[in-house]
Amino acid sequence: MATSFATLHVLFLVWFLPSTFSLSFFFFKAESISNVSCYEKDKQALLTLKRGFTDHGHVLSSWSDHKDCCIWDGVFCDKLIGRVTELHLNNLRLGGEISGSLLQLEHLNYLNLRYNDFNCTPIPTFLGSMFSLTLLDLSSANFCGLIPHQLGNLSSLRYPSLGDNDGLYVDNLRWMSGLSAIQYLDLSLADLHREVDWLQIMSKFPSLSELYLYYCQLDSLNPSLGFVNFTSLRVLYLYGNHFNHEIPNWFSNLSTSLLRLDMYNSSLKGNIPPSIFNLEKLEDLDLGFNSLNGPIPSSVGNLSLIRKLYLDQNQLNGTIPKSLGLLSRLETFYVGKNSLTGTVDEGHFRKLSKLKHLYMSEARLFFNVNSNWVPPFQLNYASMSSVKIGPKFPSWLQSQRSLIFLDMSMSGISGKAPGWFWNWTSNITVINLSNNHIECDVSDIFLSSTIKVLNIANNSFYGPISTFLCQKKISKNKLEVLEASNNLLSGELSHCWKYWQSLIRLNLGSNNLVGRIPYSMEALVKLQSLRLQNNSIYGDIPSSLKKCSNLRLIDMGDNYLSIIPLWIGEMTNLLVLRLRSCEFKGYIPQQICQLSSLRVLDLANNSLSGSIPNCLKNISAMALPNSYDISLSYQMSFTDSSISYFENVPLVPKGNEMEYEENLELVRLIDLSSNKLSGSIPAEISDLSKLRFLNLSQNHLVGKIPEKIGSMKELESVDLSRNHLSGEIPPSMSNLTFLGLLDLSYNNLSGRIPSSTQLQSFDAVRYIGNPQLCGDPLPKNCTIEEQSLNGSSIGSVEDDSKNSSFYIGMGVGFSIGFWAICGALFFNRTWRHAYFRFADEIKDWIYVTTMIKMNLLEKLRVCLSK
Ligand SMILES: *[C@@H]1O[C@H](CO)[C@@H](O)[C@H](O)[C@H]1NC(C)=O
Ligand SMILES: *[C@@H]1O[C@H](CO)[C@@H](O)[C@H](O)[C@H]1NC(C)=O
Ligand SMILES: *[C@@H]1O[C@H](CO)[C@@H](O)[C@H](O)[C@H]1NC(C)=O
Ligand SMILES: *[C@@H]1O[C@H](CO)[C@@H](O)[C@H](O)[C@H]1NC(C)=O
Ligand SMILES: *[C@@H]1O[C@H](CO)[C@@H](O)[C@H](O)[C@H]1NC(C)=O
Ligand SMILES: *[C@@H]1O[C@H](CO)[C@@H](O)[C@H](O)[C@H]1NC(C)=O
Ligand SMILES: *[C@@H]1O[C@H](CO)[C@@H](O)[C@H](O)[C@H]1NC(C)=O
Ligand SMILES: *[C@@H]1O[C@H](CO)[C@@H](O)[C@H](O)[C@H]1NC(C)=O
Ligand SMILES: *[C@@H]1O[C@H](CO)[C@@H](O)[C@H](O)[C@H]1NC(C)=O
Ligand SMILES: *[C@@H]1O[C@H](CO)[C@@H](O)[C@H](O)[C@H]1NC(C)=O
Ligand SMILES: *[C@@H]1O[C@H](CO)[C@@H](O)[C@H](O)[C@H]1NC(C)=O
Repeated sequence: MATSFATLHVLFLVWFLPSTFSLSFFFFKAESISNVSCYEKDKQALLTLKRGFTDHGHVLSSWSDHKDCCIWDGVFCDKLIGRVTELHLNNLRLGGEISGSLLQLEHLNYLNLRYNDFNCTPIPTFLGSMFSLTLLDLSSANFCGLIPHQLGNLSSLRYPSLGDNDGLYVDNLRWMSGLSAIQYLDLSLADLHREVDWLQIMSKFPSLSELYLYYCQLDSLNPSLGFVNFTSLRVLYLYGNHFNHEIPNWFSNLSTSLLRLDMYNSSLKGNIPPSIFNLEKLEDLDLGFNSLNGPIPSSVGNLSLIRKLYLDQNQLNGTIPKSLGLLSRLETFYVGKNSLTGTVDEGHFRKLSKLKHLYMSEARLFFNVNSNWVPPFQLNYASMSSVKIGPKFPSWLQSQRSLIFLDMSMSGISGKAPGWFWNWTSNITVINLSNNHIECDVSDIFLSSTIKVLNIANNSFYGPISTFLCQKKISKNKLEVLEASNNLLSGELSHCWKYWQSLIRLNLGSNNLVGRIPYSMEALVKLQSLRLQNNSIYGDIPSSLKKCSNLRLIDMGDNYLSIIPLWIGEMTNLLVLRLRSCEFKGYIPQQICQLSSLRVLDLANNSLSGSIPNCLKNISAMALPNSYDISLSYQMSFTDSSISYFENVPLVPKGNEMEYEENLELVRLIDLSSNKLSGSIPAEISDLSKLRFLNLSQNHLVGKIPEKIGSMKELESVDLSRNHLSGEIPPSMSNLTFLGLLDLSYNNLSGRIPSSTQLQSFDAVRYIGNPQLCGDPLPKNCTIEEQSLNGSSIGSVEDDSKNSSFYIGMGVGFSIGFWAICGALFFNRTWRHAYFRFADEIKDWIYVTTMIKMNLLEKLRVCLSK
């Protein structure tokens, strides 16, 4: 039977916000533009408007009665007649009510209320009577409800922008037919699914040039009349819809106009129609994250103006056509996460001199170029994980002088890293060479001052770790992530930690490290994750580690440590404490109960004695329902990209019954198995209502199973086997409806096994070794118990093979923790989606940032659930 470790992903998120942004979003303007003063009626209308607004930031303080309204912030007038023509009230955090006094502004043609917060109120219907409006921007302003049909009366309107209000919907779009001047339309995030004819309606606007309908719950791209007639469409954004069908062929009719087409994450199916690559004006095409299959048509070579091409995350198969090499303007090419096969060689890149971003990871490609190839491009971003590149180290890399991000993990590279490599990395920020067979003396590693992430896990880096940590030449490094697990590093942990104060994550697990944990590790004050598991480290955990108060994850399992320190209770940010298989002796300190954020407490397979602390219910993360906790995620951004890290923490939540991966946020686990714990199971443990995995097996516990164990409703796995528990199985246990594993074998339990769908579904082997226990699923019939059937014979049928396989997960070493780059891809794209339209308006920065944050969580979830 194979041993399988359940693997729990821990994700840390740290935000590197853009440098300080100012909140002065106004268009400031010279006061000299006009000497015609403001029309009194307009001024009064604006003052009424102001009174309706809630303006906590006092951003409208310049709107005072004794000043000319034409010089108020955000107000623009016609110079000759003094009438108000434009209101730029975007990015002001205004709320409250939009007064009908606006109707007095008969000359108003520009009304911008983007990025305010109208608290999910409806769009005022009177706006449909502001007939002079040419621009109406109500996007990202938290409007809700039906988009009023009255807006269809605004026949001069050219730029209606109602996007990014996710509470808006339409019942139909027929009212739009009067908007004949429309050039730019944004209804993104509004629910349009009720209008099946949307495509026909939109295609009737002769001047429509930009159409934004992302996340609109649209489900068809097939026009009801069988054809569409967009004459001037340049930009079409349809991502986040669910079309569930093939790409229709009417797109080929847009070949003279379309510049940008984005249908990312839209449930598109079928093959890519070759004609879509004949859209000769196209600069930006995103068909990523759909279910497209079949080959990449060779007509891709016809996209002569293309700059960004995203075909990633589909089920495309076949080889990458050579005609790709014709795309001389291509800057970004994403093709990763597909089922592509075959070879990629020099020809595929022949004219790609502008290529900067290459995402090829997880497409089963074979990168086969001549060893003296000098690529025509200078990459910034190269993500080539699991592309077969080795066995030789790719020498073409040496020509890449602008590389910031390099992922060549799982690339089949073996042997020595060439001498030039570490010096060549002079501008790089991220290097991932994990999961290869690279041999390298760690003293040869030279870290440039720019590098923040170095992942060399699962290779053959060798030599004393101190020669690496104590090198003078790397004393000024900015390394935030050092992931070097599963190598051949040796020696003691050194005293050079003062050079490594930027570290946020450190994983030196599964090497040959020896000695004590040095006191000097206290220098790592930014550290969030410390993993030294599976080495030969011994002695105490020094109290100086208290200073690393940002620690969220400590994994020191599989070493030779002695005592769980009392000060551990001060590490209140801890989410994961994994100290299993370490020879820890003595009591479990009560202080552990102060770790109120703890989700994983794994002290299994030590020599801990004494009783289980009765204060565990104080660990509120396990006892109280709590919401999504962003602090769990670790995300690092740099220049135009970013990465997320996942920690694979091997735990044994269900014995080896199941292998699964899960977001740590959902895991609540206590594993104290295989110790020498005595006394009874504290009744308070049943207050841990969020606990999902409880393993107290292989101890010396006595007494009864807590009566209220049934109130731990989330329990999926309970292992109390091999103790001396007595009494009856509490009836409340039949209430544990999620229970997927129960093991009560080898105790002194007695009486009838309570009946429930769950409890009878387990194999009898989970109850054996309790001579006085009876009832289904045990063969022993409770009603004839007194006839003293040979109960003990049941208990003695000890299935050794099963038994050992069940526990095998406990004492063994575990897989390397590796970090996955997932965010790089997603963040990059989200950034693009959010950023594209706002890039020129620096005042939108703050919102862009927030938007990315929100979307990122979605992406991470996708990432995690992959
Ligand atoms: C501004 O006022 C001055 C007199 O005060 C007048 O000469 C000038 O023509 C005015 N300018 C405009 C643009 O009306
Ligand atoms: C505006 O539109 C509404 C609904 O579409 C319509 O009932 C109304 O008569 C129109 N008002 C004007 C002034 O055109
Ligand atoms: C397409 O639209 C153009 C301009 O609006 C019009 O001239 C042409 O007749 C339309 N074609 C079809 C087939 O409807
Ligand atoms: C894909 O689109 C759906 C809505 O259709 C959305 O819920 C989901 O978050 C999107 N996923 C990504 C990765 O963008
Ligand atoms: C392309 O447009 C022509 C008219 O301009 C129309 O006859 C044809 O059906 C359209 N094709 C598609 C696929 O919509
Ligand atoms: C490019 O488009 C033309 C028609 O516009 C077509 O004949 C040719 O086959 C296409 N090229 C490729 C490589 O498919
Ligand atoms: C691609 O996948 C399709 C099924 O989706 C299969 O019929 C076809 O043979 C595959 N082509 C290649 C080149 O693997
Ligand atoms: C590093 O980046 C800077 C600025 O982008 C550039 O001038 C320099 O040439 C780069 N160094 C190398 C070795 O590529
Ligand atoms: C790498 O750079 C270091 C310091 O700049 C220098 O001493 C060493 O010789 C260089 N190694 C190679 C192989 O260029
Ligand atoms: C099971 O739960 C229900 C309600 O949650 C409760 O009323 C009942 O007493 C419980 N049964 C046992 C045996 O504890
Ligand atoms: C248990 O024994 C009683 C009486 O001997 C019998 O009626 C009953 O069917 C038995 N139940 C099972 C599950 O064997």
